[in-house]
Amino acid sequence: MSSIPELTKHGRELMHKAVENTKREFSSIRSGKASVSLLDLVRVEAYGSSVQLTQVAMVAAPEPRLLTVQPFDKGLTQSIEKAIRDADLGLNPASQGNLIRVPLPALSEERRKTWLRWSTSWARKVALPSATPAPKRSRKSRSWRRSRKTTRSAPRKRFRSTPTSTSNRSRGSFTRKRRRSWKSDRMSNDLLQQLRVHGAVPAHLAIIMDGNGRWAKGRALPRPLGHHAGMKAVREVVEGCLEAGVGVLTLFAFSQDNWKRPASEIEALMKLLEEYIAREANELRTQGVSVRILGHLDPLGPGARRAVDRIIAETAGGQSLALNLCISYSARAEIARAARLLAESAAAGRLDPGDIDEEAVGRMLYTAEWPDPDLLIRTSGEMRISNFLLWQLAYAELYVTPVLWPDFTRHHLFEAILEFQRRDRRFGRVSV
Ligand code: FPP
Repeated sequence: MSSIPELTKHGRELMHKAVENTKREFSSIRSGKASVSLLDLVRVEAYGSSVQLTQVAMVAAPEPRLLTVQPFDKGLTQSIEKAIRDADLGLNPASQGNLIRVPLPALSEERRKTWLRWSTSWARKVALPSATPAPKRSRKSRSWRRSRKTTRSAPRKRFRSTPTSTSNRSRGSFTRKRRRSWKSDRMSNDLLQQLRVHGAVPAHLAIIMDGNGRWAKGRALPRPLGHHAGMKAVREVVEGCLEAGVGVLTLFAFSQDNWKRPASEIEALMKLLEEYIAREANELRTQGVSVRILGHLDPLGPGARRAVDRIIAETAGGQSLALNLCISYSARAEIARAARLLAESAAAGRLDPGDIDEEAVGRMLYTAEWPDPDLLIRTSGEMRISNFLLWQLAYAELYVTPVLWPDFTRHHLFEAILEFQRRDRRFGRVSV
């Protein structure tokens, strides 16, 4: 970012986003309508320390005048009720089985004043540092869809590792819930500048998000809290991909083998998927992220199924980033399914078995419309592929980091992309 007009334009955009976010957050205070952010600042005494409510429970607003809080650990119910009661919000929680119901009283003048007092303190706590350097933008903005046109003649190779100098789009800031320090932002932005100078970013990035359980164990917390903390890292990488110009991001969120985990952990993961969708759908749509779910979805419960159908429909057509969430996914099952579909076509006379080649198999995979991943990141130091995208990762560069998934930030993402840029990709040929 060099010229005054560019700086002014960027500043205006940031200001506009801030105003929109503030309007959204404060609309619930003007109308008295239930919003999950009402409980954002509630802190709960859990496992010997004070933690944010959303670290130990799932908050939802199922009705205009009702919030519900579902503790991940039943033993925390009383502590959560007390925390909500003590938060000076004028709310009276009542538990009903596994669920705490928090009815919102009618909005009197007195209550409006209480909430405004609370919202002022909330706004102070989440205020962003004003000196955050702006990420550099190219004057030639392009969407990934436009870049597809240039390689249309090769359908499965239409995305290429994108030269960053021409691929930087309007970047999502996802700033609403960011609480990074100015210093860490500056370091990450330096990396972002470097990777833009260095050259191509992966057109398709795949990630095995691993280490949530160990992250929780290291803090003597139940495993579901590790998964919950992992949601922040998901937000970080989506934001980072938008900034860096990655076209497709595929995340391994739940494998078919994960159905073998304890029922309580499966339930927590499914609730988390619903929570992620409830919290992020609007922002993802606004940022032009189109979400798809890859996997065998039949075993999903009705709540999770509704949530995934909702996010697919609401974000369809997003042009900035394709975000694939692999849920109930197994690469071997995906390849077997492709073989079955091809066999069915052949048996019905629609396909000559002699025409079954690599392209034909690729067209039957969940990922048919995207290029194969250029880079696979796995967190937590494990050196395994774990039945993830076995066909598609044939030529991917592998990057394993010891960082546990909940600690993975946009900074780590940019480090991985820089490392990718240093690799010599030969695809079986010799170096030139
Ligand atoms: C592996 O860690 C992680 C998972 C099985 C779940 C991944 C889920 C998230 C990152 C959060 C939710 C994301 C979305 C998109 C809703 P592990 O439990 O195997 O960790 P461990 O190896 O340390 O035990």
